[in-house]
Amino acid sequence: MALERELVLVAEDDVANRALLARLLDRAGFRSVMVSDGRDALSAATDEQPDLVLLDVGLPSLSGLEVCRRLRADPRTVALPIILVTGQTASRDVVAGLDAGADDFVRKPYDEAELMARVRSVLRLARVTAEMVGAHGVIAALANAVEAKDSTTELHCQRLAGLAHQLGMQSGIDPGGLKALVFGALLHDIGKIGVSDAILTKAGPLSRQEWAEMRLHPLIGERICEPLATASEFAPIVRHHHERWDGSGYPDGLRGVQIPMGARIVGLVDAYDAIIHDRPYRPARSIEEALVEINRESGRQFDPGLVELFVPIVEREVGSQRATGVIALEALRAAV
Ligand SMILES: [Fe+2]
Repeated sequence: MALERELVLVAEDDVANRALLARLLDRAGFRSVMVSDGRDALSAATDEQPDLVLLDVGLPSLSGLEVCRRLRADPRTVALPIILVTGQTASRDVVAGLDAGADDFVRKPYDEAELMARVRSVLRLARVTAEMVGAHGVIAALANAVEAKDSTTELHCQRLAGLAHQLGMQSGIDPGGLKALVFGALLHDIGKIGVSDAILTKAGPLSRQEWAEMRLHPLIGERICEPLATASEFAPIVRHHHERWDGSGYPDGLRGVQIPMGARIVGLVDAYDAIIHDRPYRPARSIEEALVEINRESGRQFDPGLVELFVPIVEREVGSQRATGVIALEALRAAV
């Protein structure tokens, strides 16, 4: 199936320039739509849904700069790539254009090859940005889905992602690894979508059979994540977040450094966060009690090296009285 050619909106009041741009764009494989004043440019930007706007600064009725500002203020066109075409060369005009939200500039008279190269490069950047926003959006939506189903874990994934990010930084994980860690932390319990509500919200202890179902959630989660493009980077975290350092965890009974680092980190911060918040089967305990428990399980449930790094993080956090939710959001922003 042939891909539809990308559409460029040209806002230019000079008839000869319009004809020239239409020809150039067509030759370069783009479709184009032409308008000759600022107000028409604004309406065409929403009605025609172009992939990019070539916007002359000196338009009648509304200047190109004003059009640019209004497009940026409208949620429908906030991310629409805009190249300003200007006859002015003063740097203050360039600054005004950037302030108005333009992605790039082309000065008249333009070199045709350069103009087309700019168009292609701005479009390429817009596509990459859209992909990144899309991937992150899907992951955030999936994380919300788990929290909606299991209301006791509301905000749990975000908190956990923030703590995991801090512990990951302390452990010297590189930026790519940190991003995978945050995604893994957000999605670690996504497999609970496949576990029945009666089990997730049961107040008493689970029966043998119920436990067997509960223990499937890392495997279900791994399968849910598979279609995501970057799944190979964080799916091991989802699968192995209930492994234990001494090999007594599930689903694969991995031990020690066999357990992927990201899964060891998420396993530790998940356990900590679970202890200090209410669960259907028991009330929340204090941070001090959680630290005692974590120290006791160091070398059994948890990687002792990570416990050593994690305890000071918690103590600092308690000391500075910062809300973990806020920290989590900051870490998320830093990581993605
Ligand atoms: Fe889990």
